[in-house]
Amino acid sequence: MGEKHIVRFEPVGIEIEVDEDQNVLRAAAEQGIMLMHGCKEGQCSSCKSFILEGDDIELDRYSTFALPDYEKEEGYTLLCRAHVYEDVTIELLNYDEEMIRSGLPIQEGVAEVVSNDPVTHDMRHLVLRLVEPAEIKFFPGQYMDIAIPDTEEVRSFSMANTSSRESGQLEFVIKVYPDGLFSHFLDKKLQVGDRLDLSGPFGVFTLREGDNDLIFVGGGAGMAPILSLLRTLAERGIDRKATFFYGARGQRDLCFESELRELERKLPRFRYLPALSEPSDDGGWNGETGLITDVVKRHAENLAGSHAYVCGPPPMVEAAVPLLATLGVEEKRIYFDKFTTTGEPEQ
Ligand SMILES: Cc1cc2nc3c(=O)[nH]c(=O)nc-3n(C[C@H](O)[C@H](O)[C@H](O)COP(=O)(O)OP(=O)(O)OC[C@H]3O[C@@H](n4cnc5c(N)ncnc54)[C@H](O)[C@@H]3O)c2cc1C
Ligand code: FES
Repeated sequence: MGEKHIVRFEPVGIEIEVDEDQNVLRAAAEQGIMLMHGCKEGQCSSCKSFILEGDDIELDRYSTFALPDYEKEEGYTLLCRAHVYEDVTIELLNYDEEMIRSGLPIQEGVAEVVSNDPVTHDMRHLVLRLVEPAEIKFFPGQYMDIAIPDTEEVRSFSMANTSSRESGQLEFVIKVYPDGLFSHFLDKKLQVGDRLDLSGPFGVFTLREGDNDLIFVGGGAGMAPILSLLRTLAERGIDRKATFFYGARGQRDLCFESELRELERKLPRFRYLPALSEPSDDGGWNGETGLITDVVKRHAENLAGSHAYVCGPPPMVEAAVPLLATLGVEEKRIYFDKFTTTGEPEQ
């Protein structure tokens, strides 16, 4: 452990103590302060903030796409990479007043594999049961970091279930990439009964209160946190008008179809609209076709007053967020999680 310093966040007036060995985002999360973030690895820029007072701040490795040199010189920083060596004051550029103080302190845990079954040709439904502690509280839409055994690496995965309270279970939907480190481990090694170390919860992709209409846009494993949010609507009997646009390449990429159709029956104002970008020529598909953003454009003309939740691969998120803003969703009401991958960050 290093020396500790005070970090003050403006304009919210929150102060926390940060050890020199910890980054600011992590220290805040441990103290239940939920700051905006995505990758936690200096790649997505969601945690970008401005240094109002203090100079002695050092950054771990990050991507210059997330923080270009000129911005660093102007005083911007990435809280997920920043270590402070004196007391500092930081202006949060993005924060959500409803969420910032509602954070659940992150916990370390051990969980056992209950099942690891395919749901499509390249996606798994991984179900874990917590061994220690027996429960980890999380908000639907949040994610855990799972350690890859025998490495120093962790990967983030969003829960598809709504709570670990009764069953102690955590459910995930995970895409298997041919050369991915976790993917390979999940595909070739992980067995029922194996134990995994994890920590969390993280993330701010959580359901905000209100009776506003809801637009969900997802692709690939972005299914996981959206399913968690939809299951929450059903469990709590929340009858908000909601549409889930889900983009896939072909029919073999669709999953949880029968549950989503069942949710349509339970939630009369909910519609599930899957769309295929590469439907096969055999005519077996009567649904929507095209890129999911085109499908959103076709169906949703004026979304003023809606809350939007977007989750999946970064290019899909980057296309959907500005589109939703053009269609009338207030920018601060577009919540998104980009499933950025780890790769080699640039300094
Ligand atoms: C907040 C957050 C939540 C996430 N939630 C989920 C989730 O619920 N489900 C889920 O499946 N993933 C999720 N991810 C992504 C996940 O954390 C991993 O990055 C991903 O599973 C790849 O890990 P890996 O170790 O298999 O691949 P890595 O070892 O990180 O990647 C190695 C190689 O795999 C290939 N590869 C990896 N990712 C991609 C990609 N996106 N496109 C093309 N090629 C790729 C590339 O060849 C890459 O060089 C989330 C990420 C974030 C930041
Ligand atoms: S959370 Fe800091 S750059 Fe992504």
